[in-house]
Amino acid sequence: MININGRRAELLDILNDNVDSFISGQQICEILGITRSAVWQHVKELRSAGYQIESVTNKGYKLCNSSDVFNSYEVGQYLNTEFVGRDIEFYEKIDSTNDEAHKLAVNGCKDGLTIVSDVQTKGRGRFGRNWASSGGKGIWTSVVLRPKLRPQDVGLITLAVAIAVIDAIKVCTGIEAFVKWPNDIIIDNKKVCGILTEMSTDPDRINFIVIGIGLNVAHRESDFSKELRNKATSLKVVGKEDYSRSKILGVLLNEIERIYNILCSGDNVYIINAWKERSLIFDKKISYYSNNLNGSGYAKEINDDGNLIVESYDGSQVILRSGEVSVRGVMGYNE
Ligand code: BTN
Repeated sequence: MININGRRAELLDILNDNVDSFISGQQICEILGITRSAVWQHVKELRSAGYQIESVTNKGYKLCNSSDVFNSYEVGQYLNTEFVGRDIEFYEKIDSTNDEAHKLAVNGCKDGLTIVSDVQTKGRGRFGRNWASSGGKGIWTSVVLRPKLRPQDVGLITLAVAIAVIDAIKVCTGIEAFVKWPNDIIIDNKKVCGILTEMSTDPDRINFIVIGIGLNVAHRESDFSKELRNKATSLKVVGKEDYSRSKILGVLLNEIERIYNILCSGDNVYIINAWKERSLIFDKKISYYSNNLNGSGYAKEINDDGNLIVESYDGSQVILRSGEVSVRGVMGYNE
C-alpha cells in the first residue's frame, strides 16, 4: 500500500482544494517547488493508490472521486481526535491487526496507535473463532489504549466501544444499529460488527488494551459464506448504498476518543445508560453461555462493572461477567 505522505499528500491537498476543477501542472509545480515530471510521477502513484485523477493537455489535473479510497490520508480528513488514530498504520494484508497492535504495545507504542488492514489472513473473533476479513469489504482495525483504570473496568471499555461503533454508523449512514451484550453490533437481526478486547494487566492495573473492531461495510449478501449468510450483514446490504470506509473509520476513531474520555473521567453511569439505550436485550428472553455454563432467563440490568444480570425463570439472579447471549429472533435464534 502506498503511503500518502510528504509531497503526495501536499499534491492531494491541492487537488482537494480544487475538486471538480482543473489546476494546471505549472501551478502545482510552483506551489510544490518540483518539476513537471515529478508532478506526473506523483499523479501516477496516486492513481495506483485508487484516486481518479483526470489529466488534460493545456488544462492540467482534476481529482474526480476519492470516496472509495481507503488510506490514512483519507481517514485523516475526518479525524478530530487528540490521540486516538493520530499514529495510524495501514496494511494491504496482515495476519491480524490485533496481533500487530499487541506486538507494538509490548514495545511501548503510543496511546491511541491504530492498525488497519484491508485483508486479514488470520482475523480472530471471540472464543478463538475465525473472523472473515476479505479485501475491499470491511474495516478491520485495532486501537491500543493505555487507560488508568482498574482491570475490572475493562468490561466498561468494551461497552463504550460498542456505543462508539453504533454512533459512527448512525452519523455516517443514518442506519440504526443495536448492541447485544456484550458487544455484538446488530442490524436487522444480523451481526454487522464484532469487537474483540484483549489486554495486558498487572494485578491492580491495566498495562494496555487492544480493541479490535471488525465492521462489515461493503459486502453483498453473496460475499458471505453460506454459513454466515443468515447471521451476518453489512452496511451496504442494509443501506443499499456504497459507504466510504475512510469516513466511517475517521468518525469511529473520533467517537472512540469521545466516549473513552467520558469513561476515564469516571462517568460510568453515562456509559451504562448510553449502552442500555442502544441495547436490544432488556426484558427479553435470552439464552446465555458463560464459563462453560448454559442457561436462560430475562436480561434485567447492567451493573457498574458492565456485567449482565439475568433473572432466571425461578426468580434467582445470575451475574454474567463474560460470555455470549442469544436473543429470540436475533441472528437465526428462534427457539
Ligand atoms: C467477535 O467475535 O465478535 C469479535 C470480532 C473482532 C474482529 C476484529 S477485525 C480487527 C481485529 N483483528 C482481529 O484479528 N480481530 C479483530
